[in-house]
Amino acid sequence: SKLVKFVDELPDMPKIQSFEVVTGVFKSKPLEIGMFKKLWKFHRDLPPTPVYAYGTSKRNATIPGPTIEAIHGVDAFVTWQNHLPSNHILPWDPTIPTALPRTKKGIPTVVHLHGSIGEPESDGHAHSWFTRRFKEVGPTWTKKEYHYPNSQHPGNLWYHDHAMGLTRVNLLAGLIGAYIIRDRDVETPLRLPCGDEFDRTLMVFDRSFLTNGSIYMNSTGNNPSIHPQWQPEYFGDAIIVNGKAWPRLTVRRRKYRFRIINASNARFFRFFFSNGLKFIHVADDSAYLEKPVITNETLLAPSEIADVIVDFSKSKSDSAILGNDAVYPYPSGDAVNEANGKVMKFIIKKEPEHDTWRVPKTLVKYPDADLSSASKTRYIAMYEYTSDIDEPTHLYINGKSFDEPVTETPRVGTSEIWNVINLTEDNHPLHIHLGLFKVINQTKLVKEEEFKACMLKLNDAIKCKIDHYARGDKIEVPAHEKGWKNVYKMTPGCVTKILVRFAFIHSNESYPFDATAQPGYVYHCHVSHISPEQIL
Ligand code: C2O
Repeated sequence: SKLVKFVDELPDMPKIQSFEVVTGVFKSKPLEIGMFKKLWKFHRDLPPTPVYAYGTSKRNATIPGPTIEAIHGVDAFVTWQNHLPSNHILPWDPTIPTALPRTKKGIPTVVHLHGSIGEPESDGHAHSWFTRRFKEVGPTWTKKEYHYPNSQHPGNLWYHDHAMGLTRVNLLAGLIGAYIIRDRDVETPLRLPCGDEFDRTLMVFDRSFLTNGSIYMNSTGNNPSIHPQWQPEYFGDAIIVNGKAWPRLTVRRRKYRFRIINASNARFFRFFFSNGLKFIHVADDSAYLEKPVITNETLLAPSEIADVIVDFSKSKSDSAILGNDAVYPYPSGDAVNEANGKVMKFIIKKEPEHDTWRVPKTLVKYPDADLSSASKTRYIAMYEYTSDIDEPTHLYINGKSFDEPVTETPRVGTSEIWNVINLTEDNHPLHIHLGLFKVINQTKLVKEEEFKACMLKLNDAIKCKIDHYARGDKIEVPAHEKGWKNVYKMTPGCVTKILVRFAFIHSNESYPFDATAQPGYVYHCHVSHISPEQIL
């Protein structure tokens, strides 16, 4: 498509608060958020697009959905209501394990609050789906009103669909939104840019469109004789920020905070500014860093978040384009082109301004990763079974599929070392529910093929002598990614060692909920195609 760039203004999503202030104290305010089919304008010159959108009403529903603002220590209660009709706007594939209502009526959905540390019943387990008006529910569904305790550290989360086998198409259709936990005691002293004008969420994703405006997704699978519609990955040529293709934003000559969420299904972004402006990282996808880190570029895998300050007073020009130069698929795919290599444009006002926001020398100090505290060491190998046309047919973790019995059963309050071995060709962003982790190091495998052959036979990294193979070059973890995270990029051909903590990071307090209840939690790759496994 030949859409003109930078003609639509960057929208701000509506904000809704999960609390109210009653005589000076914060109280929970229960929310009801629906999923609606509606039309959405992605670009001035594109006809309206059928989408699925979250909102407090159909009229208020947006792409992405409203930004939910929560307060640390104040419980949030959300009833997610499915108002979707029966026929999906995108092709899905019944030959992969998929949520399927008996009556074939209604589209199964379930909401996961990504980055939340909360009870399993409200975690949006893939089998806890429900259809319109809860007419039918999945096998692990227990309740309508989800409870998010917000007892964790302040930071950026996002909510998105999580239904078995439909996550990729439900996200593509628009079921995504941001969620922020604020903590005044921790954050006010930092004096970072704040308020609606200077503290903004940027949700970035890619889509392709047909000339009639509808979202284009190839309806023939990569391996149609086995899976007629299933596509392991999706790449679109139009880059969307907060629901507009290549928008523009006029900014003042001062500091802004941007919470940048990569909400794509499979596209990695490596952002940079055309005029050399820098990113000052203050937090990663989960928590504040100990100190700000300055970079020229920012690589984000799907579902990773960069929380950065950009100081436009340092700009030598009156405009700047936020670009992207990450190949797709990452790291062994095609180079970006004129369309997907550009993200949005900043128009920078000429007049200098007095700026009272600061970037402090130190931010928030959380515990270091203490390897000696780990109560267990696990080896987790990811590999694909491919067909004779060399397309993946199954994607497994340690040779097991999602529906096999629970494999990882860490105890609440403990830490564990996980060695994640990526034997595929793609970089897989590993996301762990409930846990927070620090990346310790990445080591290249030597004689990877030999090791992989053994794994395909024995499915056991120790029996296959992982130590003998994990002794290649080390890859440095970038300074801005050394904090506590909930997603990280598992480089192909590498063992990534992480320390996972199944507890809060800001205190030794235990969870205010039963983390051992059913249905448990999952960990998975966030390119919506690897089968997740259960934990706890
Ligand atoms: Cu962002 Cu299990 O997901």
